[in-house]
Amino acid sequence: MADDNIVLEAKNITKQFPGVLANDHVNFDLRKGEIHALLGENGAGKTTLMNILYGLHKPDSGEVFVNGKSIVIHSPKDSIQAGIGMVHQHFMLIPVFSVAENVMLGDETTHLGMLDIRAVSQRLQELSKQYGLEVDPSAVVGQLSVGAQQRVEIVKTLYRNASILILDEPTAVLTPQETDDLFRIMRQLTGRGVSIIFITHKLKEVLAVADRITTMRAGKVVGTVQPKETNEAKLASMMVGREVILTVQKEAAHPKEEVLRVEDLHVLDDRDLEVVNGVSFEVHAGEILGIAGVQGNGQTQLAEALTGLRPTKKGKVIIAGKDLSGKPPRPIIETGLAHIPEDRQRHGLVLSYTVADNMVLCNYYLPPFARWGVIQQEKVDENARKLIKDYDVRTPSPYVPTSKLSGGNQQKVIVARELSRDVKLVIASQPTRGLDVGSIEYIHKEIVIMRDRGVGVLLISAELDEIMSLSDRIAVMYRGQIVVVVDARQADREQLGLWMAGAHVEAV
Ligand SMILES: Nc1ncnc2c1ncn2[C@@H]1O[C@H](COP(=O)(O)OP(=O)(O)O)[C@@H](O)[C@H]1O
Ligand SMILES: [Mg+2]
Repeated sequence: MADDNIVLEAKNITKQFPGVLANDHVNFDLRKGEIHALLGENGAGKTTLMNILYGLHKPDSGEVFVNGKSIVIHSPKDSIQAGIGMVHQHFMLIPVFSVAENVMLGDETTHLGMLDIRAVSQRLQELSKQYGLEVDPSAVVGQLSVGAQQRVEIVKTLYRNASILILDEPTAVLTPQETDDLFRIMRQLTGRGVSIIFITHKLKEVLAVADRITTMRAGKVVGTVQPKETNEAKLASMMVGREVILTVQKEAAHPKEEVLRVEDLHVLDDRDLEVVNGVSFEVHAGEILGIAGVQGNGQTQLAEALTGLRPTKKGKVIIAGKDLSGKPPRPIIETGLAHIPEDRQRHGLVLSYTVADNMVLCNYYLPPFARWGVIQQEKVDENARKLIKDYDVRTPSPYVPTSKLSGGNQQKVIVARELSRDVKLVIASQPTRGLDVGSIEYIHKEIVIMRDRGVGVLLISAELDEIMSLSDRIAVMYRGQIVVVVDARQADREQLGLWMAGAHVEAV
């Protein structure tokens, strides 16, 4: 190895999954004490590369070196041994156990029951202090905030003596303030010699925290740059392979009559906990009301209740003047609702149906698609061909099952179907989650077009940037309640972040 500062190197890694080349001769290295960001759109191959480094996938070809030595990684055991720790996109903690118990669990070097939990707790306290992690070893994990659970995952890797830390999209679940905290912790760690691979698709974040930035696209490394020699626009075009517009172009809204009125709505989740807790608001024709909030504050259940997918416990839902409280989806849709659901595979599509059939999922039984109870296939086909063209859906034909399309194109099928109908209200839940920058840009434009056509839009998103760039008014949801509604033109990112984290709302 020429550079002895390099602690980890992946050379020529290739990994093929059925139908997709997830890693195509990827080279990547990590220097001691640096934060090396791995940037890329959804599906670019970032997690695959990390799973290979962590021993969860075996590469088809390629080599991994740790401190200059070639190593063979069969399982996470081998990578932990080599000093690699990984914090996954979805945490792997047991909620009913304490922090210390979670850390001990599955640790090859300790034997649960034999080892003194006090000794573990003490070591955790030391680590926590040393790295500014603020982790209480005796706290029950399920009672911790998401940010604190993430710190537990980090301290768990340190406990196992990791000196190379992989963080896979760690900020996806955090508020802006928690993100700042994480960045502070990351710098403390690198200051003490830990080397970090930081995965994200957010341009601002890599510019804020990374020492080097490597961008991947479609399984390949596009290039490695330093923050000072790049900017958001350059990074975005590396990610997407073309120039992209990052801001949403829109004129001032001209709100008209009320199209959605929600009064004192209460909704239970699957465990019968009341997660929507007396919510009231209204949406007018020609405006976009954005609901900001960290995932898991009742937004999912609110959207499901408004669209008839989940029963309401109490309260009213009035769409276009019609009381539809507690009604199932069909009468709600017929009143003039378009719905872009959060769980597109479960609520948005029938994956085994063709693209053409999915495009008439809510009106196949109505003219012109059906006459005298008979499906008019040529009308269904005509509709599909038009929407595929208008909404730029990339599909080999209208007759392939939607399961064969990429996530972005599946979402475009839903958007095409929903936004091409004559509706009064659009409810869009996480409409661009997991999509590439190009598709995000496209869907944002379509939402603004709907608004300008006089449709009311309720936008629910955990991406604060999306809420801020699209909304005319912004409501913040926290623990099942709308804690504040502000005019988007006066909204301040910092302040919204604080409210999302539960800060007290002064009169606004
Ligand atoms: N276990 C798997 N089986 C089949 N395909 C997979 C698997 N894991 C990832 N892929 C595919 O590999 C590609 C890269 O995925 P991934 O590494 O998760 O991307 P990223 O983390 O950059 O979003 C995607 O097309 C994805 O669908
Ligand atoms: Mg990933």
